[in-house]
Amino acid sequence: MAQLKLVDVTKKFGDVIAVNKLNLEVEKGECFSFLGPSGCGKTTTLRMIAGFEDLDEGELSVDGKVFSSSFKKYYLPPEHRDFGMVFQAFAVWPHLTVYDNVAFPLQIRKIPRHEIAKRVKMALQSTGLTHREESYPGKLSGGEQQRIALARAIAINPKVMLLDEPLSNLDAKLREEMRFEIKDLQKKFGFTIIYVTHDQAEAMALSDRMLVMDHGIVQQVGHPLEIYNKPANKFVFSFIGLSNFIPVNIEEGKAVIDGSNETASFEAPLELGKKAFLACRPSEVDFVEEPYTGANQLPPAIRARVARRTYLGDIVDYKVAVGNAEIRIQKPRRVQGPIEGSLCTIRINRTLWYPLE
Ligand SMILES: Nc1ncnc2c1ncn2[C@@H]1O[C@H](COP(=O)(O)OP(=O)(O)O)[C@@H](O)[C@H]1O
Ligand SMILES: [Mg+2]
Repeated sequence: MAQLKLVDVTKKFGDVIAVNKLNLEVEKGECFSFLGPSGCGKTTTLRMIAGFEDLDEGELSVDGKVFSSSFKKYYLPPEHRDFGMVFQAFAVWPHLTVYDNVAFPLQIRKIPRHEIAKRVKMALQSTGLTHREESYPGKLSGGEQQRIALARAIAINPKVMLLDEPLSNLDAKLREEMRFEIKDLQKKFGFTIIYVTHDQAEAMALSDRMLVMDHGIVQQVGHPLEIYNKPANKFVFSFIGLSNFIPVNIEEGKAVIDGSNETASFEAPLELGKKAFLACRPSEVDFVEEPYTGANQLPPAIRARVARRTYLGDIVDYKVAVGNAEIRIQKPRRVQGPIEGSLCTIRINRTLWYPLE
């Protein structure tokens, strides 16, 4: 039985359908991410799970027990759901010490004092805050403040942890470290994580499975690599990782780049019609030394001009022009690539196909 189950969950704000018939099952112990652009309905979904928002339609249950249901007209208030929660803003109480910040929710729950002391110590230790017990949050860094919020959620001993962009306010290096810390905490305590983010790298790094949404509608659910390699549609392809959409004209299965005579593929799907997009990742395009000679060799060689070359540390980012297309290519720095302004020959190794619209 899935631990968390959402059936046709829908939420409207006036004319805006923030979440549109969302169906989802999350297993116990999974780290599951909601990924999508700002405004796509991630926070609203999380707030419905937490119980801060009721749902307009559908049903939500945890361990087989109904928490919210529009059919049964039932709604369990958040304080009875016992989820751990961490939000983007460092929601810590400035007038309480670190210790009391973590202890407070347990005091409200009327947990015995010795048990509170035990749990707070354990949570502070797990988040590396033991030496900060007596400090006030204002004296601590952003990373430490977010650890207080994490410790507070852990001390509740939740079955499910709800995290809404918890690392967005931290700088890049700390954000990356904290990803691993959250993973480690999950391994240690075994809770289920629902993790909301607009950052695809974060979702890829953390998730066992993830859901990509747009305008309140689920676009794809799956393992991060599955979504990266087999995106369900154009939106998912462009949202996850870097992407090229090359306009092509298709004749007899041959895709010729729009505005040129260069064949990009001999394997265009026939059902696409006369015009389509050939999509590829910048890392899947190679520079080749010699033009191919045999017409049967796949994939074909394409002549292009290097419009721009940029060094991004270990990676070199190229933009090459062919007819009406601009193709982005990324190569490790150690790969010898052509210089800006020169002619080059490229080959596209992995292609996906999308209709013009
Ligand atoms: N309390 C609210 N009142 C009115 N509209 C809201 C409210 N909360 C969210 N929305 C709208 O619902 C949509 C989804 O918002 P949200 O769930 O916050 O997206 P995300 O977390 O993915 O950025 C947006 O169009 C947003 O403007
Ligand atoms: Mg949000």
